Amino acid sequence: MQTSPDVVEVALGDRSYRIHIGANVLEMAGQLLAPVLRQKRVAVVTDENVAARHLPAFVASLDSSSISYESITLPVGEHVKSFEHLETLLDHLLELEIERDDAIVALGGGVIGDLTGFAASILRRGIDVIQVPTTLLSQVDSSVGGKTAINTRWGKNLIGTFHQPKLVLADTAVLETLPERDTRAGYAEVVKYGLIDQPDFFAWLEANGARVISGDAEATRHAVVTSCRTKARIVSADERDTDTRALLNLGHTFAHALEAEVAYEGRLLHGEAVAIGMVKAFELSCRLGFCAVQELARVRRHIADAGLPTTVASIPGFDDVRPETLLEHMRQDKKVRGGGRLTFVLSEGIGQAFVTSDVEEEAVVAVLGEGLPASA
Ligand code: GLY
Repeated sequence: MQTSPDVVEVALGDRSYRIHIGANVLEMAGQLLAPVLRQKRVAVVTDENVAARHLPAFVASLDSSSISYESITLPVGEHVKSFEHLETLLDHLLELEIERDDAIVALGGGVIGDLTGFAASILRRGIDVIQVPTTLLSQVDSSVGGKTAINTRWGKNLIGTFHQPKLVLADTAVLETLPERDTRAGYAEVVKYGLIDQPDFFAWLEANGARVISGDAEATRHAVVTSCRTKARIVSADERDTDTRALLNLGHTFAHALEAEVAYEGRLLHGEAVAIGMVKAFELSCRLGFCAVQELARVRRHIADAGLPTTVASIPGFDDVRPETLLEHMRQDKKVRGGGRLTFVLSEGIGQAFVTSDVEEEAVVAVLGEGLPASA
């Protein structure tokens, strides 16, 4: 029996939109899209892997609702979030004569969502975008909230815009085809929501996380819905990331430094970096006296139980990395504000995160260096 999707609303006044979450949402895409389109024509941007697995079902659904479409298939990988690929994509969209009243669909993971959202925000001074995330990470985080971005040699996501989608379609059945490593990496962002302000959800994850990772449909849907509800609430309160939205960056200041050090190669996925980053945020919180060590132990145990890394030293090739080098990467992070002070999301315990720029760099270096031979 097919159940109807859950609907989560992102309340942003006249830019409000809905997230439809459930198995087989892709097959309903045409009927869900039709009411939000200004005219029944879309450009679908995807990547080679997703095109092979999901594009036929998606466009069949567009066909059944008489929505005409063009599709653009990009290569797979983080390197696609670049000026070079942005230019190629914009050129292709112009060649297809995509108009202001058409819409662009991002069908894929975070890379496709971020790049396509950015292209939509600047093409003809802004075209509607629909996010159709196909990875756990993009369903629970990057497809919601309107952040778009590309990477540069100076760091990740340093160039981008806020461009809210008109609709998000999160088909939880497509997650069954994800490689297990990607599922685990996406799971790190699910854990993040429990750690920010929902201790009950964290406790639910401690009991049910293995079901989410193994692809149990009911558990996965509950995890995606709860994550999207949390993100929607935080984004509605601070869309432009001037205040409380920074809580969503729990673990990310550390994570971006680790990712910069591996130059965004596949040996460390974003979610894996966030997993280590969240443990580091709790270690720093303990070191500074905000958080009890028992809470840190619980976080570390759950992340390890999820098959995610918890230490910097466990990243392949990090044997001779110095903590000071990682601190330098952090300084480039876009969350550096107020005369170069680093901003961190720290915690007073599970579900009690807070934002602060009042952290001495020695403490950060000490936490980063734990277990690294180069800091001994
Ligand atoms: N992923 C962080 C944010 O959307 O603000």
